[in-house]
Amino acid sequence: MTTNTSVGKSVSRVDGRLKVTGQATYAAEHDVPGVVYGVIVGSTISKGTITAIDTAKASRVPGVIKVLTHLNTAKLPYPEHHTVCDPPGERLHVMADATVKFFGEPVALVVASSQEAAEHAVSLVKVTYATLPAITDIDDPKASSMVSPWYADYERGDPDTALRGAHITLDRTYRIAREHHNPMELASVIARWDGGKLTLWDKTQWVQGSAEFVAFCFGIDPADVRVISPFVGGAFGSGSRAWPHEVLAAQAARELGRPVKVVLTRKQMYTSIGCRPASSQHIVLGSTTDGVITALIHEARTETSQYEQHSDAIPELPRMLYAIPNMRSQYRLVELDTNTPTWMRGPGEAPSAFALECAVDELAHELKIDPVELRIRNEPATDPFQQTPFSVRRLTDCYRVGAEKFGWSRRSATPGSRKEGNLLVGMGMAAAGYYSYRVPADASARINADGTAVVASATSDIGPGTYTSMTQLSADALGLPMNRVTFQLGDSLLPMSPVEAGSKTMASVGSAVQLTCNMLRDSFVRMASVDPGSPLYGARPDQVSVDNGRLHWTDKPQRGETYQQILARHGRQNLEVHNGYVPGEEVQKYSTWAYGAVFAEVSVDVDLGLVRIRRIFGAYEAGKIVSPKMAHSQAIGGMVGGIGMSLLESTAIDHRDGRIPGASLADYLVPVNADVPELDAVLLNAPDGKADPIGVKGLGEVVIVGVPAAIANAVFNATGKRQLELPITLDKLL
Ligand code: MOS
Repeated sequence: MTTNTSVGKSVSRVDGRLKVTGQATYAAEHDVPGVVYGVIVGSTISKGTITAIDTAKASRVPGVIKVLTHLNTAKLPYPEHHTVCDPPGERLHVMADATVKFFGEPVALVVASSQEAAEHAVSLVKVTYATLPAITDIDDPKASSMVSPWYADYERGDPDTALRGAHITLDRTYRIAREHHNPMELASVIARWDGGKLTLWDKTQWVQGSAEFVAFCFGIDPADVRVISPFVGGAFGSGSRAWPHEVLAAQAARELGRPVKVVLTRKQMYTSIGCRPASSQHIVLGSTTDGVITALIHEARTETSQYEQHSDAIPELPRMLYAIPNMRSQYRLVELDTNTPTWMRGPGEAPSAFALECAVDELAHELKIDPVELRIRNEPATDPFQQTPFSVRRLTDCYRVGAEKFGWSRRSATPGSRKEGNLLVGMGMAAAGYYSYRVPADASARINADGTAVVASATSDIGPGTYTSMTQLSADALGLPMNRVTFQLGDSLLPMSPVEAGSKTMASVGSAVQLTCNMLRDSFVRMASVDPGSPLYGARPDQVSVDNGRLHWTDKPQRGETYQQILARHGRQNLEVHNGYVPGEEVQKYSTWAYGAVFAEVSVDVDLGLVRIRRIFGAYEAGKIVSPKMAHSQAIGGMVGGIGMSLLESTAIDHRDGRIPGASLADYLVPVNADVPELDAVLLNAPDGKADPIGVKGLGEVVIVGVPAAIANAVFNATGKRQLELPITLDKLL
């Protein structure tokens, strides 16, 4: 037993000082002696064949060491093997032959002794292509599509009959543009070979996943690849798998016998890593006049590449959010001549909540029922898809608390009725949900002779504050103050950890950390309890408390000794244990989701069509909250992402050749301070005892999920204009 001094307390980031003083080292900043610089030449067609590459001029640029192309670089083996989290399909064999599968595909890598020389030489590489017609538009009727390999068609009840019998039906199609993650830190890697062993200093959300992937490409043992990534400057899903530039850097390093650094340009961030796929969702709703939803059809399409089949989680939320007895759900992937999309914050749930929650809002309006009330009338008693009880589902509490704190009762149900000069003001809301994942993870924990602790697992910290929250958990489990605990992550040599994505780090790695620290603490108790020289002689772990590094009888606090004293008496430098977490079978018997209710107020300029967010409030139920300050930061960060998704973000594609003309932070709009008003959130601290040892459900994604729909519904309330497409640009309101 230990005293709770850290978990649940609003502490600041343990790595905050390192970050704000520039001492945190990001991938491209690692000082690797002898490093040379690789810059990618991307294809300027979306489909076809390279007929010639003229590298003569580029090679003559002073400082250029080599220009690698498919003509002069080794073919990597890519043996038959796929990592679990990668999509089905064939990996891109980067620069293996003359074919081009997407715009921006690497066709050459210029390596030089300076970044400047490499960049200049890139401009002198001349590539000639035989171009084939490419399809890059998800709505192109010539595009082929397939059933998502991860989501089979699903039906319950008889939706067609139910729709014919419904008092009111609604039939809408919602579209969301392709989006790119645009983190501050560019995707970067430094690769170095030492004999047959490879080290990558990489920007990644999953050091062990990158190690496994790159090992697979080279046909070597993953144990021979070490990936180091102590800090990540934002990722939002873009680093959840390894990308071709990581393979290219390793390939160039091997061929040149020197470490090679590759940093994508901002422009290449739109073609050389994934994106949130463009989507189109057809929704049909049927309801009784008193607001019982009787039928739902959800037909979703998202884009994927010609070589891999990426599925978002787009079918999941509509299948379970409401107690709808009759439902059909279908998901198709549209195969385009583009690079493979990937996860982007709230992947699937954020897009599907936009469609579903806008449709439910429209239904509420037609039925003249308050949108919150309509949702409560359709709350399910058990998960209608999984057909199991919920572990904890406090969505109605989220509605109640959110509506109260936001001041929802002040909303006028009549669109366009609130005017302030030439501004129309409106309020909207939406529900949010995100499936709560938990997977196996390992950790190590050690207490040193000086009474400090080192706890480790190979996870990442892409921004949620994993260094800090894991330090909090460890400190409490070990009975130490946080300043005596160091948490290590971001190195593939550390104990096994899943990708930091899918909001599962706290449930998975956190559980492993807690179990491991508990084991270490109990090991000390056992060491002392069998030692006649210890004041704890004869004690069982459940009779001992630990406070501030001192173990003592719970009922006789004066009798005890410190970790240091125990180690010293045994002549040991430290004591270390390894342990792991495997999700219990118990959790499978329940539907575990994190939930939220999002409320937004917007103004719309009637002359300019300009939407400004006035405020957003979210109430979230995500299990136990380990780190309230960082959870709040996550929540408002999710809202900022949701503002981008709803009003600004859109990757324009020129479908004549598949190029992305606005591939820059000047043309691809993301929210800046002026776009972000007062944001606030409350986290219901609701430990889920069935979920995992800590009782957490994950927070990183649920906080973006309801935001776009709440904003779109507020725009309708302000103007009377329904928004079926994201982003909601000015032209849609004029
Ligand atoms: Mo996220 S899309 O789980 O990194």
